[in-house]
Amino acid sequence: MEDFDMPTEEQLKKQVQNGKMIESTDEMTDGYKKALKQILTVSADTELMSAPAYYEQSLNAPSADARASCISVLQDELGHGHIAYRLLENLGEDRHDLIYEREPHEFRNTYGFDQHIDNFAELVCAHGMFDRAGIVLLGDIHENTSYAPWKRALTKVNKEEQFHLRHGETWMRRLANKNDKTKAKVQEAIDWMFPMALEWFGLPDDKKKHDDQLEYRIKGKSNDELREDWLGRAMPLMNELDLDVPAHYDEEADEYVLEYDMPVAFDEANKQWRFDEPISWSDVIDRWRSRGPANEQYVNMIQSGRVSVEV
Ligand SMILES: [Fe+2]
Ligand SMILES: [Fe+2]
Repeated sequence: MEDFDMPTEEQLKKQVQNGKMIESTDEMTDGYKKALKQILTVSADTELMSAPAYYEQSLNAPSADARASCISVLQDELGHGHIAYRLLENLGEDRHDLIYEREPHEFRNTYGFDQHIDNFAELVCAHGMFDRAGIVLLGDIHENTSYAPWKRALTKVNKEEQFHLRHGETWMRRLANKNDKTKAKVQEAIDWMFPMALEWFGLPDDKKKHDDQLEYRIKGKSNDELREDWLGRAMPLMNELDLDVPAHYDEEADEYVLEYDMPVAFDEANKQWRFDEPISWSDVIDRWRSRGPANEQYVNMIQSGRVSVEV
């Protein structure tokens, strides 16, 4: 049935910029639906893949209490994934196909969750760095999105993410303050995770010609705004724990600034950034598209049901 009330792409962009909320596919243009599916797929896959990434070291937590918290984080992440896949289902996708029928390289999760998390310090730093990136991204969507069902769903998700972050920060403090050896473990984790989180937010604004997700107000803040937001939230903890990171507060500019020119090469095998080896953003996108070292293993864990904590 032809819908004569359907706005053009330009009209819809204007309407959502003026505050219109979208409830269902009946109100979506093709462009809106495409942009929404894209960001929801990244979000769903990132939530889902964080579970296998966190799994092994959760079982390795140093106390029963810590283990219980870690397991509840896993449950939450699987739940967050399912919330996002359910929203995709409302847009005509098949949840089962998305989770079980795709090849590992077809998943769109962030590159950070294609990495092996090798010890408990890395796990809690992942909560401190990566869950914080999730909070920044989803917090913006919760506040600004024009897609009402996602906004509603994120109320629960954001509360749980705050718990993940608190859990991560608590343990980062404990390890950083316990002794030199445990502090060194935190520093080693931060060495690769801090730049990884910065890269996570993607192309800088001056390299992005136009951004449908912003124009349709599916999200509200640009990549650079989100990256700065993350930096402003992460730095106080880095300073408090006296961790070395390639960024500092610039009095004159009145903001945190990076001490290297993004983007740079990443040595996957050793999880080391090569700060003296600049690359282009298209190299970064190629690296993301070829997926990281743990991609196949993590997708297999999900698809074989090895990570199926009861939710
Ligand atoms: Fe999550
Ligand atoms: Fe989380």
